[in-house]
Amino acid sequence: MSIEDKIALVTGASRGIGKATAIYLADLGANVAINYSSDEQGAMSVVEEIRKHGRKSKAFKANVSCMEDVQAMMDEIRQEFGGLDILVNNAGITKDALLVRMKPEDWEKVIDVNLNGVFNCTKSAARIMMRQRRGNIINISSVIGLTGNAGQANYAAAKAGIIGFSKSIAKELASRGIRVNVVAPGFIQTDMTGMLPQNIKEELLSKIPLGRYGDPMDIAHLVGFLASDESSYITGQVINVDGGILI
Ligand code: NAI
Repeated sequence: MSIEDKIALVTGASRGIGKATAIYLADLGANVAINYSSDEQGAMSVVEEIRKHGRKSKAFKANVSCMEDVQAMMDEIRQEFGGLDILVNNAGITKDALLVRMKPEDWEKVIDVNLNGVFNCTKSAARIMMRQRRGNIINISSVIGLTGNAGQANYAAAKAGIIGFSKSIAKELASRGIRVNVVAPGFIQTDMTGMLPQNIKEELLSKIPLGRYGDPMDIAHLVGFLASDESSYITGQVINVDGGILI
């Protein structure tokens, strides 16, 4: 499996799933642009690791929920790297609360980053990809977008929104040589899930048929496959990576 010399952008890549994915795409041969919103040090450490693998990399600061930031980032990437072949929309946040206690700003912020961010980056990247007549967009949703979850109405709405959005643009962009797929992770061990109380984590573990939490590399491996030509007949799909929790 190879994506030799392809140009990739991973959003929210300074840590967690984004970091693992960016480094894995570089392992498969891609040059990788690293997007971050605030953690410059984390982003630079990913850039350095990728450069050690002999691939080109650079960090780009942009808040994905701000279209101006995103457009400026895409323009810079096109100048620096010469195009864009693979976009991984990974940036995401949670602001959990039961509906009755959920503040409108917690609703808006999560929709802004997790759904509007995907729209902004995809629209901006699609312009470059349509001109190239090739491209590959991989959106990170969540099993919560399929099942819902008490206390995560904002997050579930955004993640379900990503699925409808991705299927729509998969239909729009297929004739331009652009594929669009969704990865829906289950419980993956990162800083995001590290915040959960121990009793909730244990309860979740008891529901995972494979008997373990996911690792960021479990997601990276699927993204690598979807980004490669080995998956060239797959578009508009939602693939769960969840240890069987939704069986
Ligand atoms: P994380 O919190 O470790 O990483 C998220 C990254 O997104 C961080 O680097 C953060 O700085 C960045 N980010 C946040 N807001 C941003 C913005 N406005 N602009 C640019 N970057 C921004 O979380 P993790 O676990 O690595 O999650 C990555 C993706 O996977 C997220 O979309 C998350 O919703 C999704 N996911 C994670 C699961 C898990 O169990 N960890 C399960 C299902 C989905």
